[in-house]
Amino acid sequence: ESEKKDHWFIGSIDCGTTSSRFLIFDGEGTPVASHQIEFENIYPQSGWHEHDPVELINSVDQCMEKATAEFIEQGHTKDQIKAIGITNQRETTLCWDTNTGEPLYNAIVWPDTRTTSIVHELKAREGADDLLQLCGLPLSTYPSSVKFLWMYRNVEAVKKAYDEGRLSFGTVDTWLIYKLNGGKEGGIHVTDTTNASRTMFMNIHTLKYDDKLLDFFKLDQKNITLPKIVPSSDKDAFGALAYGSLKGLKITGCLGDQSSALVGQCGFNPGEAKNTYGTGCFLLYNVGDKPVISKHGLLATVAYDFGGGRPIYALEGSIAVAGSGVKFLMNNLGFIKHSSKITELAESVPDNGGVVFVTAFSGLFAPYWIDDAKGTLFGITQHTQRGHIARATLEATCYQTKAILDAMEKDSGHKLGGLAVDGGMSNSDLTMQTQADILGIPIERPIMRETTALGAAIAAGFAVDIWKEFDELKEINKKDRTIFMPQITKKKSDAMFVHWSHAVEMSKGWVKE
Ligand code: G3P
Repeated sequence: ESEKKDHWFIGSIDCGTTSSRFLIFDGEGTPVASHQIEFENIYPQSGWHEHDPVELINSVDQCMEKATAEFIEQGHTKDQIKAIGITNQRETTLCWDTNTGEPLYNAIVWPDTRTTSIVHELKAREGADDLLQLCGLPLSTYPSSVKFLWMYRNVEAVKKAYDEGRLSFGTVDTWLIYKLNGGKEGGIHVTDTTNASRTMFMNIHTLKYDDKLLDFFKLDQKNITLPKIVPSSDKDAFGALAYGSLKGLKITGCLGDQSSALVGQCGFNPGEAKNTYGTGCFLLYNVGDKPVISKHGLLATVAYDFGGGRPIYALEGSIAVAGSGVKFLMNNLGFIKHSSKITELAESVPDNGGVVFVTAFSGLFAPYWIDDAKGTLFGITQHTQRGHIARATLEATCYQTKAILDAMEKDSGHKLGGLAVDGGMSNSDLTMQTQADILGIPIERPIMRETTALGAAIAAGFAVDIWKEFDELKEINKKDRTIFMPQITKKKSDAMFVHWSHAVEMSKGWVKE
């Protein structure tokens, strides 16, 4: 009992694309209490994807209350929790009224493609060719900038608030931090550099808002309040909880979820990479303290920034559909009752039976950036079973990961020796074995796969001096990793990839509705 009281803990809020969680970690990086709540994903029309901002914050509040109650039941006290970190789905865009703190529209979620025609228009605008060098992101439906533009043009309340100079813009981190700090009473308006690097408003080299970028999108900072950009780990920048059981506790870490997973995997050295199979799938490759602007369809992003003016950058390959493909088979086609059953279904057949599924529900992201691609299923015969389609769905993410690694090799000149993985789909041995086979390199899976939440806890812990050097984290989550070794010949995997690439070509150019 007394030993328990000496220990300290760190809380971590993880607000992803389909659910919120709150986890309380001990000093070894083990979660001792947690709670998770799924929130509604709203699809009002084909290609549209929204969240209710109030539901997001409410789900976070409830998770914190439930996990804290569990923690206390275990005999701990609240003051043993030293700080809180936040990690979140990135790019998702919110607008609220600066005066009332009320949302002006639902959040437009990152895979949403309603902005396709805006993107076409912007690509023709003067200055479009300079954007990539400035912010590291290609112009696509993915970043926050185009989502905001859509709201400004289509939502009367947003336009009015902008014109009257009372519009607050934010990504999910900014919204949650604002609300957790008390909303219109005392809420602060900040974002960290990793989240800001997904908006297209921040210069990736200076880590400041860039007039050239804001001018390109015709934004005037007199009309729109953009969050202040701060490092990901800071003891004062993110304020403290204004209410609830943990009232007064400081928020000292904030990272976009993919950055957070890289930190949680302790990918602190240049050349280290991780791939997180969540709703989408995101490969981040640490490139050190200078951004690398991709020539091959990848994104330059801030990996993490623990202050001291030394941000670390990553090359990123973003895949829009991973777990959401499994959810599609479950919710839309009724193939399974629970996501975890996908592997069983895929294992009901020995191979994909010639079926390839290009799961281009949001067009195709990295490295292809084909915004008019549509989900396309190939190779169906009288022999095709649901199991084949399940396999093809899992394989789609593995093939896109291969395309990303090929691009990364070209950009960096390095061949990756192995890949650390995490996220829901990484629980599937079949998928991870397939990934190793397709990439031809070992896949390394940790036992504790809440690496995203762990990363934010690490950022928070650094700010309050729980850790001072990355070296102190060396052992965290490293024990008993499962290694998947490639088991098929290069000739075979190359042939499979050729098949996939052909299918990608065929998924292009669908007529717009
Ligand atoms: O860029 C979107 C990403 O941050 C979402 O992550 O884990 O919800 O797929 P996830």
